[in-house]
Amino acid sequence: MGNEESSMVDDSTRPSVLEGRNVEAVAKYIKERNVQRIVVMVGAGISTSAGIPDFRSPDTGLYANLAFLDLEEPEDVFDIGFFRQNPKPFYALAHELYPGRYRPTIAHSFIKLLYDKGLLLKHFTQNIDCLERQAGLPGDIIVEAHGSFATQRCIECKTPYPDEEMQKKVQHGEVPYCLVPQCNGLVKPDIVFFGESLPPSFFESRDLPEQADLCIVMGTSLSVQPFASLPVLCKRGTPRVLINMQQVGGLGSRPDDVLILGDIDAGVRKFAKAMGWEEELEALWEVTNPDPKAREAENAPVPSRDERLRQEVDRLTADVERTLNLTESYQQRVREKLGEPSESSFIKVDSQEQSREGGLDHVFPHLARESR
Ligand code: OAD
Repeated sequence: MGNEESSMVDDSTRPSVLEGRNVEAVAKYIKERNVQRIVVMVGAGISTSAGIPDFRSPDTGLYANLAFLDLEEPEDVFDIGFFRQNPKPFYALAHELYPGRYRPTIAHSFIKLLYDKGLLLKHFTQNIDCLERQAGLPGDIIVEAHGSFATQRCIECKTPYPDEEMQKKVQHGEVPYCLVPQCNGLVKPDIVFFGESLPPSFFESRDLPEQADLCIVMGTSLSVQPFASLPVLCKRGTPRVLINMQQVGGLGSRPDDVLILGDIDAGVRKFAKAMGWEEELEALWEVTNPDPKAREAENAPVPSRDERLRQEVDRLTADVERTLNLTESYQQRVREKLGEPSESSFIKVDSQEQSREGGLDHVFPHLARESR
């Protein structure tokens, strides 16, 4: 994992800026010190309660559930070399993940609330689901470090491809090709694949963490460089808050780091409560759910978050299988190859394989070196 800091939490260290290492002290700091430059850094974990699986969670993460595609590594689905040879697995997945199907989570609305209050300096996201935009954040406050589904172009001549055409192709599970007749290259959403460079907006904004007076990191394993190094760029003495299921990326090692471990939705609600923003936050989130029927359904007893995520992953994997027309015999072959019993509906990759690190290190070797 690439960070200057060890992953030890030193709770005994007295904070130098905050009065305590808890969310109440962070709220006091924001109010009393007139904090107005907050940087937020997020990953797939802020979208899981919307039903979008993250990448590395052991059972429900995408990489654990793509083994049946017979990819050498599940990450290959986002590998540019692999995509050139076989774009179908990516488009099967794109069909499932394409924006429009999912509602922003309360964590997205929390970020929008920071923006509405004039406190947000920059929002750095690794997510490609566009849920920040859907929650109302304007494009210029967001750095989509790994790109997004918002635009697309030919990978050869770089000619942009029309949004409507793209939508149709993805909906029908078809691979789009460049409309320039003499080119006819493969079209890909402007998502950063392994082996590609991050967008200029990422590098243009890399000095902002240093200018921030508060950093909030949510829902990321911080295992892909150079994004993983962003929290390290905050000045020592700048409080950093981690809201995540587990501790990641050395957060907790500085005296003014605060860890809010557990479910992210619960974490942001706790943060909002400490700020006195509970009602505003719920109201803002409600705006993302204009359908009264959906509201009614929400009040009905619902399965737990994990059950819903499991159901969504099952549905997604089944749809990808169908889109790719994987035959039973093909699946059998893959299962045998992986040494799994044929009746198991998923073939799990082992956890070490899943935690393969920093796929973009080779693109930014200087950062990988710095952070070791
Ligand atoms: P990961 O799947 O690596 O990490 C998600 C983190 O969020 C993990 O620490 C989870 O435990 C945590 N998490 C998930 N759901 C949560 C919940 N409801 N409450 C609390 N914590 C939760 O996802 P990323 O860090 O975003 O790159 O992955 C980084 C990059 O790796 C992605 O952008 C993608 C991938 O390869 C590309 O596609 C280029």
